[in-house]
Amino acid sequence: MSQTHSHLFLDAIRNKPIERTPIWIMRQAGRYLPEYINLKNKAGGFMSLVTNPELACEITLQPLERFSLDSAIVFSDILVVSEMLGINLSFVENKGPMFDKTIRSERDLSSIPTAEFEVENLEYVFKTIKLLKNELDGKKPLIGFIGSPWTVATYIIEGNSSKKFTNVLKMLKENPKLLHKILDVLAEISIQYLNKQILSGIDVAMIFDTWGGLLDDEDYKEFSLLYINKIKKSLISKDIPLIYYIRDTGKKIHILKNIDIDMLGVDSSTDIGIIKKTIGNSFALQGNLDVEVLKQEEGQMRQAVENILKSYNSPSGHVFNLGTGITPDISPDKVRMLIDILADISPKYNVK
Ligand code: CP3
Repeated sequence: MSQTHSHLFLDAIRNKPIERTPIWIMRQAGRYLPEYINLKNKAGGFMSLVTNPELACEITLQPLERFSLDSAIVFSDILVVSEMLGINLSFVENKGPMFDKTIRSERDLSSIPTAEFEVENLEYVFKTIKLLKNELDGKKPLIGFIGSPWTVATYIIEGNSSKKFTNVLKMLKENPKLLHKILDVLAEISIQYLNKQILSGIDVAMIFDTWGGLLDDEDYKEFSLLYINKIKKSLISKDIPLIYYIRDTGKKIHILKNIDIDMLGVDSSTDIGIIKKTIGNSFALQGNLDVEVLKQEEGQMRQAVENILKSYNSPSGHVFNLGTGITPDISPDKVRMLIDILADISPKYNVK
């Protein structure tokens, strides 16, 4: 019996039998696609796309029109949640995200209207989800997402994408109480935001904890994982599968093996087989091709895909993806090649 694409992706997450390994690609709608650049230039920038539901819907569907991907992901960003706090987000070309305010002190925090968060400020995301549900018409699942409170905090405290994390790490050492207060606020708005995405129609929820691996084990449990668990417990639906993504997955797997999620996103620095052996059938795995492989020749790509499938070595519970987001220097032809290679070789690793 032939499975529809949507069943494949959801069945893989639920560890049910699949006939081939499904695939989607982090940042699948983005700058490596000429049609994305075109629309972004016309609209006047990234946030002009994100805040316009018709355009965000069109951008989300661009990669699905080109390739046979098994899931859509809402075109937005983890940092738009700042708008629930009245903090304005903008993206400066080649510089990344910028906020008009930072939260670095009790005073900064008290200037935020915490009595009632403005989830309506993100109405454009909920409208985009509703448009997408209509367009997708049950043929492909739709992933909605948030950033983890810790990962979002690194940007809101720094104020930009510095990647040095000076202020947030200083706060962690010198004023952990304030950091917890900020994380509490971020967890609270994330719960409201993700629940509203669920009500608007997403099929799968994903939490991006890109910078969770920056913390040592004890700090990771205290400043990141605690809030992930809090969010998980507060989701209004127990039927929506939850994906959790963290870079440096391997370094945290001894802790993560007990986490209550449906699928773990694995980065490329880790052997997916080692993760699989550690977790058994506790949850599904997503990943983890190194994006650099998409710059190689077909033979090398085939070998790299085969290595991941062989290493994972189990007939279900695997969704193929990159270990990080796709970068603007990748040719769309290589994405097509990757999808074809996977469709060609994965059936022998799966059960029908
Ligand atoms: O995956 C998807 O296609 C869905 C959309 C999505 C985007 N960002 C669109 C985007 C998702 C899920 C994200 C997540 C996100 N955003 C993360 C976590 C995952 C990761 O990549 O580690 C983080 C840390 C951010 C914050 C962010 N957004 C930064 C630091 C930047 C600038 C640097 C960069 O990678 O471009 C962005 C911009 C961004 N978000 C773009 C896209 C398509 C590029 C925008 C452009 O066209 O200039």
